[in-house]
Amino acid sequence: RKILLINGPNLNLLGTREPEVYGKQTLLDIENAAKSQCISHDAEFDCFQSNHEGMIVDRIHLAKQQQFTAIVINPGAYTHTSIAIRDALAGVAIPFIEVHISNVYQRETFRHHSYLSDIAKGVICGLGTDGYRFAIDFAIKNL
Ligand code: DQA
Repeated sequence: RKILLINGPNLNLLGTREPEVYGKQTLLDIENAAKSQCISHDAEFDCFQSNHEGMIVDRIHLAKQQQFTAIVINPGAYTHTSIAIRDALAGVAIPFIEVHISNVYQRETFRHHSYLSDIAKGVICGLGTDGYRFAIDFAIKNL
């Protein structure tokens, strides 16, 4: 098992960004928790955050070379815009879980469409930052 956690744009601001929507945990809290979860199950772990679409595409390509077995990704706003990230995930064919902290379906209609969901192994949204833990748990057990 080798699991990569990817967070997209603005998720570096977690903890301070709209805490009523995204909670109080920082990205470092989330990454550290995911790392401990993986280590305690003998799974390898790495994480990556970027505000740049092409950097995320490059990291996904590298994940293939590095033989990651699963990706947990919160693509942030790129969820709703990025054919390039969709194509990268499809291209490397590493099973992935899409995570959203907020329930995007309770929000603006432009957040209701995802370019990734139909090719994801599964999607978690609206469960707060716990969603990452559930996704990592699934990846450890099944991917
Ligand atoms: C998000 C939802 C997106 O619509 C938004 O652009 C984000 C975060 C979430 O985790 O709820 O940046 O992916």
